[in-house]
Amino acid sequence: MSTNDSTVETSCAVNGQGVRLRLDPRESLLDVLRERLALTGTKKGCDQGQCGACTVHVDGRRVVSCLTPAVQVTGQDVTTIEGIAGPDGDLHPLQQAFIDNDAMQCGYCTPGQIMSGLACIAEGHAGDDDQIREYLSGNICRCGAYVGIVAAVRQTAEAQRNEV
Ligand code: FES
Ligand code: FES
Repeated sequence: MSTNDSTVETSCAVNGQGVRLRLDPRESLLDVLRERLALTGTKKGCDQGQCGACTVHVDGRRVVSCLTPAVQVTGQDVTTIEGIAGPDGDLHPLQQAFIDNDAMQCGYCTPGQIMSGLACIAEGHAGDDDQIREYLSGNICRCGAYVGIVAAVRQTAEAQRNEV
C-alpha cells in the first residue's frame, strides 16, 4: 500500500530484469537508475539534457535519462551501459573499439558516448565520419576525445556491415 498518495507504482525491465518500484512522478530515470538501482555507469553531467552523459536506450531508442521521468518508461525495456556486454562479461565490440582507438581520457562521458554510438549504428547513421559526428553531436566530451570516439563508432559500424 502507498504511504504517499502522490507516488506511482511502476514496472519496467532494466537490462532484461523486471523491476517494480514505487516512484515520485518527479523522479528522473537517471536518478532512479543511479540511486535506487545502483546502476552508476550512467553518468549525470548537466542534468539538463545538454551533455548526453546520461544516455540510455528505452525500447531501443536513445534518450537522455535526466529529462525522462522514470514513470514514463512503465512497461518498457531500458538498457544501460551495464547491459551491453556479453553474457560471459565479454565487452561489446563498441566497448572494445573505444579501447582500441583510445577514445577516452577521464571516461566520464564514455557510457553516454557508447550508448549513443550504438544507436547511431542501429539507426544507419554511421555511414561516414561526418554523419557519425552529426549524430553524436548531442554527446559532449570535455576531454576532446572526439577523434577516437568517431573512429571507434566507424570501426564497429564497418565490422557490422562486413558481417552482413
Ligand atoms: S546529464 Fe542528461 S544530458 Fe547531461
Ligand atoms: S573522456 Fe573525459 S569527458 Fe569525455
